[in-house]
Amino acid sequence: KRHFRSILSETKATSLLGGGIDRIAKQHAKGSLTARERIDLLFDQGSFREVDGLVVHRCEEFGMGKNRVPGDGVVVGHGLINGRRVYCFAQDFTAYGGSLGEAHAKKIGKIMDMALRVGAPVIGLNDSGGARIQEGTDSLAGYADIFQRNVDASGVIPQISVIMGPCAGGAVYSPAMTDFIFMVDTTSYMFVTGPEVVKTVTNETVTKEELGGASVHASGKSGVAHGSYPNDVAALRAMRTLLDYLPSSNDESTMPERPVIDDPHRLVPTLDQLVPDDPNQPYDMKDIIREIVDNETMFEIQPDYAQNIVTAFGRMEGRTVGIVGNNPMTLAGCLDINASEKAARFVRFCDAFNIPILTFVDVPGFLPGTGQEHGGIIRHGAKLLFAFAQATVPKITVISRKAYGGAYDVMASKHLKGDANYAWPGAEIAVMGAKGAVEIIFRGQDVEKNTADYRDRFANPMVAAQRGFIDDVIEPHDTRRIICDDLRLLRSKKMHTIPRKHSNIPL
Ligand code: COA
Repeated sequence: KRHFRSILSETKATSLLGGGIDRIAKQHAKGSLTARERIDLLFDQGSFREVDGLVVHRCEEFGMGKNRVPGDGVVVGHGLINGRRVYCFAQDFTAYGGSLGEAHAKKIGKIMDMALRVGAPVIGLNDSGGARIQEGTDSLAGYADIFQRNVDASGVIPQISVIMGPCAGGAVYSPAMTDFIFMVDTTSYMFVTGPEVVKTVTNETVTKEELGGASVHASGKSGVAHGSYPNDVAALRAMRTLLDYLPSSNDESTMPERPVIDDPHRLVPTLDQLVPDDPNQPYDMKDIIREIVDNETMFEIQPDYAQNIVTAFGRMEGRTVGIVGNNPMTLAGCLDINASEKAARFVRFCDAFNIPILTFVDVPGFLPGTGQEHGGIIRHGAKLLFAFAQATVPKITVISRKAYGGAYDVMASKHLKGDANYAWPGAEIAVMGAKGAVEIIFRGQDVEKNTADYRDRFANPMVAAQRGFIDDVIEPHDTRRIICDDLRLLRSKKMHTIPRKHSNIPL
């Protein structure tokens, strides 16, 4: 027994060191932290409890029988983030390059099962050379077992991926199934096939960064990632902040509630001056959002992608809300393919996890052009329409200025079962802007007079209010107070949906 104890403590000490001090030094030299250092930063001090630290692989091929690192290149377990339980796996690049074999995959699967059973989020810290080459098909089976779990857990517990090193080949599809992907600038990359294969097949020469770095995925190019951070520490700190907004599961009782330190009845006079009278002059929708939410604080999702739409979490009276807003600062706030997809996915996350949705509208329509039409704006725009229409969480919409054409309908309008729909006095709810409308109806006759007439008649929220398409025209300074009241009222909202296997969202 004494002998066993000494073996046990030796094995545990080896497990703590992963691939050993030389490889840890290499990891540091890259500017990255080790799996355990990352876990220490992510969780409340001393709260992390490791599971399966003694697991080893059972591969004998290519000399692997003599190369068994306890823990098998991934640290898994659970701990507290600001007092709330979160499950985690952190791939350890120092052991087998964090590559995924049978045992490694089983460990990840086990904590996903545990998280699902108790209803707590899973956060994966990815840093891996991919499928463990020596283990062959066992590695492929391991990935697929994880993918299936990602799908089974989707909409039940929040799943977050942070890419903190390589993530290539089949490995990308587990993060891709999760709710959010974040990256670390310059030290992380994601691609399905790497630069060498790309060179062979397409004769393109690209670096890893150009092919799949944070600069590609978190910015305007691919939209695969939901944000990026300058280093490991900043990324992990941000994850702690994000998790504070999220419920632990789709059980409503797990919704976090912060003490109310911002008066829900606070009037916001600055909002009365924020929207320019000139409909062609832009303003930043984020300024409106910040003024309305608690303590001017929000957590943006995909801040650098499709900036014509803002998606963010905030709080109202201490409770999490999801915010969607057209932003006139980019493309005049038009909806396009990227903006539609970005917002649709966000709306579906909010709906799955019982997070009320606030929508701020200033949209001149869909972005015109062959690029958009040939790119399939019809089916991509349909995603946002479908997502809003299907969402049963409380939905509150404020039209701050333009709400034109089909885009008016899409943006959480009354017609899509909106619970509370408002317009500010300067709003224009119409089929299109005055100039375009007059050109079509009057074919260039008396343009000035006809434009003025059209503006008087339609460039305001009155017609929509008369029909009941908006519930009221409200003063901008009153908006926070009214939304807080509505959200309180809507806490007991119940909507029953027609039984079916599942709907068929346009993909
Ligand atoms: N399977 C088994 N071991 C792997 C591995 C994999 N997929 N990927 C990396 N490793 C091991 C390396 O053999 C090396 O082991 P060592 O420390 O005992 O020498 C260690 O991990 C570190 O890898 P290294 O290549 O030295 O690191 P790097 O930072 O220079 O390169 C990668 C990182 C990921 C680009 C490179 O390791 C690589 O190309 N790996 C293979 C990727 C792949 O094709 N995966 C399978 C398809 S999904």
